[in-house]
Amino acid sequence: MQSDLVCFNPACRARFSITDVLYNCTKCGGLLEAQYDFGSPDPGALKRSWRERRLSNEPLCQSGVWRYREMFPFLDDERHVITLREGNTPLLDAPRAAVYGGLARLTFKHQGFNPTGSFKDNGMTCGAAQARRLGMKRVACVSTGNTSASMAAYASAGGLEPLIFIPHGNISYGKLAQALEYGARTFQVEANFDQILALVRVLAERLGIYLLNSINPFRIEGQKSIAIEMMDQRDWRVPDWVVLPGGNLGNVSALGKGFREMRDLGLIDRLPRLAVVQAEGASPFYQYMQAKGHARFQARENPETLATAIKIGDPVSWPKAQFEVVTSAGAVESVTEQEIADAKAVIGQCGIGCEPASAATLAGIRKLTAAGVIDKDSNVVAVLTGNVLKDPDYIYRYHTDQLKAPDGTPIKANFGNRPIVVPNDADRIAELIR
Ligand code: F0G
Repeated sequence: MQSDLVCFNPACRARFSITDVLYNCTKCGGLLEAQYDFGSPDPGALKRSWRERRLSNEPLCQSGVWRYREMFPFLDDERHVITLREGNTPLLDAPRAAVYGGLARLTFKHQGFNPTGSFKDNGMTCGAAQARRLGMKRVACVSTGNTSASMAAYASAGGLEPLIFIPHGNISYGKLAQALEYGARTFQVEANFDQILALVRVLAERLGIYLLNSINPFRIEGQKSIAIEMMDQRDWRVPDWVVLPGGNLGNVSALGKGFREMRDLGLIDRLPRLAVVQAEGASPFYQYMQAKGHARFQARENPETLATAIKIGDPVSWPKAQFEVVTSAGAVESVTEQEIADAKAVIGQCGIGCEPASAATLAGIRKLTAAGVIDKDSNVVAVLTGNVLKDPDYIYRYHTDQLKAPDGTPIKANFGNRPIVVPNDADRIAELIR
């Protein structure tokens, strides 16, 4: 099948070979995306074949990404694929979170169930496959945690050398531990995410290393599967809203592309509206969209939030994200540290749990329903992007009333759950339990 890399800038649309090692258009500097000549496959036949694959023991069919490979046919040979059986993440109903969010019903698509604990695995399996197909030996990324853990795992599983660059002192131990355990060469750089991304791009160019940040269009292709699997699990009934946190804005770009392509192929009959939620201290996209075209996009120089996964001031994919939000008649919201922390505890009380960045979704939903943007009876799916074990420190501090925002403001434990210190005395403990 014909596939190309195409410049995302509508005024340029330059085409490149699918095997060119490029992250930006060489003509205008725009973002790139993979495009295919899908032909006109029978939507019913595709859906049946994807269902049947769930019964198969073939690794590619067991993957919740490659099961849908007809939607991203960029490889010439499936032997390049490395799968850890990524995807296959559940849709979970969360009545308590729905009430908190001002909704009659709310469903979470929990990407934290992935092999390395985040949605990055959906994209990384595709990015790593492309790296192998191109004959690359080394792969690199800058990361606030999840990308590095994911890239380390897929690279090592696929015989590639992973090189990881992380902001020194600013990533969770759980994530750093994964990178080390999976055998990545790990560099802790004294700079923030945006600065390190610029640095890694220079190194990638100079040393011929393949870059696996979300600027890599094949990462985006893999992350489309989050939308496809969601629709498959919902028997192709489109929700009114899909809500997700926004950092570098790759994921909203991916889901938006996935929904559009499914609609164009007749797999779904309409687009859901996409809502992106940013942390107030790292919300350049929110600011830009608020200005409704009256201001240029402005990066935020010193982004600050405890939700480290979305602590990004200069998101590379903002033009794609803007397109997807506008095309889907979506919304962008920003939430405070207190709002994120409380929403996270409520998601925890549902027996579900997630990392701080993921909880921005529920905090955003609460604001969007209060403002009348999301209707109370809407059918809403929020994407929980990462696992509850990402930031145990944050959780302990919140529940014991010790959590502080980056500017030192105390965060109240409105849903706190303190551990109780007790003597080794059955009578006293029984009394407490009663
Ligand atoms: N949620 C989680 C758990 C993340 O790890 C990230 C990104 C995002 C949301 C934001 O997604 O960038 O596509 O808008 N984490 C990156 C990392 C930056 O390095 O792991 P986005």
